[in-house]
Amino acid sequence: MNETLEVKSILESKPELGKVYVETYGCQMNEYDSGIIKSLMQKADYSNSEDVENSDIIFLNTCAVRENAHAKIYSRLQSLGYLKKKNPNLVIGVLGCMAQNLGEDLFHEELPLDLVVGPDNYRDLPSLITKIRNGEKKTNLTRLSKIETYDEIEPEVINGIQAFVTIMRGCNNFCTFCVVPYTRGRERSREIHSIVEEIKKLQDKGIKQITLLGQNVNSYKTGTHDFARLIESILEKTNIERIRFTSPHPKDFPKHLLHLMAKEKRFSPNIHLPLQAGNTRVLDKMNRTYTKEEYLDLVNEIRSIVPDVGLTTDIIVGFPTETNDEFLDTLDVVKKVEFDMAFMFKYSEREGTVAKRNYSDDVTEEDKSKRLTELVELQTSISHKLNKEKIGQIFEVLIEDRSKKSEKDLSGRTNSGRMCVFPKPENSSLEEMIGKTVNVKIEQATSATLKGQIQ
Ligand code: SAH
Ligand code: SF4
Ligand code: F3S
Repeated sequence: MNETLEVKSILESKPELGKVYVETYGCQMNEYDSGIIKSLMQKADYSNSEDVENSDIIFLNTCAVRENAHAKIYSRLQSLGYLKKKNPNLVIGVLGCMAQNLGEDLFHEELPLDLVVGPDNYRDLPSLITKIRNGEKKTNLTRLSKIETYDEIEPEVINGIQAFVTIMRGCNNFCTFCVVPYTRGRERSREIHSIVEEIKKLQDKGIKQITLLGQNVNSYKTGTHDFARLIESILEKTNIERIRFTSPHPKDFPKHLLHLMAKEKRFSPNIHLPLQAGNTRVLDKMNRTYTKEEYLDLVNEIRSIVPDVGLTTDIIVGFPTETNDEFLDTLDVVKKVEFDMAFMFKYSEREGTVAKRNYSDDVTEEDKSKRLTELVELQTSISHKLNKEKIGQIFEVLIEDRSKKSEKDLSGRTNSGRMCVFPKPENSSLEEMIGKTVNVKIEQATSATLKGQIQ
């Protein structure tokens, strides 16, 4: 037997406690956490499965941010019922934000469900599974922690050339509409050296671009080190090609970061700056702690220091008591700022939030829909206009993948985060192109994508 075969056979003969299938919903934070979950389960002698039908444990890593996030999970659980009938030993768990938000109430719904575990309790997953296998029924653990950061756990995150790195967990901002502070607990930051080590390992695995994650990265703090110091350390101590982050809060955006962004080519000029609403009274009721004018001033300052910045945002329409006139302020900010792209939502009332306790969800569904349609139309026309202005320009694009629409095309992002599609050079393979940086001349534009040719 040669050496590789021998190693393989030892690995194969290792006793394994079962195959774990993890399905991820919600934001990038959850994608990262699914990597932590897989890594923790592997350490406990479970293996990963990519096949839901052929697994011993199914984890749904869930989101709670809007009601439709919950609805998706209820229907997914129902659709998994047949697997449970086929295999009574199958363990199904709901993890993540919906687990934390609803806790043991989830067991009252007649669903095929054995386990409910919140985002700060993943280290306990192997022992909870053992308990269930020993006969314990309907187990739940949703204890928020002030310290858990999974600092030393190396998550399973390999996905092409880009990876997420969570730098802090939790949120202390308590925007009145938002469930996240209740599902993720209080803010806590990871140590700089552990973040840097994780990035170095990713770099060794071929990762070119990292996105640093936090609910409000401006609050990152360890000892005397702040978020800008973290970026400086990553720039100094790693060779990672592109660094991005999401999200900063407009109330305390660190100006020093802008100068760093203007100076350092590896630090992408790409800022996701959630607006939420354009009217100052509504912003105050949301507890966002900035005014319409302060937001606009911040955008002007950002653009004066980083002229080619890619700006994106999140917006909610129909927050309690928002009038149609006040909604016009949202349209006004969108027109003045001209975001590259926006995620736009109808307000959805959430359990446990101040808005649910104190205000009634009084904007009708019809008005919410009307406002959303108007906003989406405006933003789409702005995105299209901005993209058309890029025709004729040349951008550096980091190739991420093949295009979703055609095997002959490649896709990637410009340094400012704009999506770009262009033909794969003949005689080149996809594998050799992914991860390369190329110059692309833009020839066409839709509202979502720039199209061009490699120069
Ligand atoms: N921490 C991030 C936001 C995380 S939630 C930040 O502050 O940038 C992502 C987005 O979901 C929010 O920015 C908000 O626009 C939206 N959202 C949050 N709660 C919501 C609710 N109750 N109804 C509708 N949209 C909501
Ligand atoms: Fe939610 Fe506001 Fe915290 Fe973002 S900053 S997670 S919107 S409470
Ligand atoms: Fe993310 Fe949804 Fe939780 S947006 S933090 S998975 S509530």
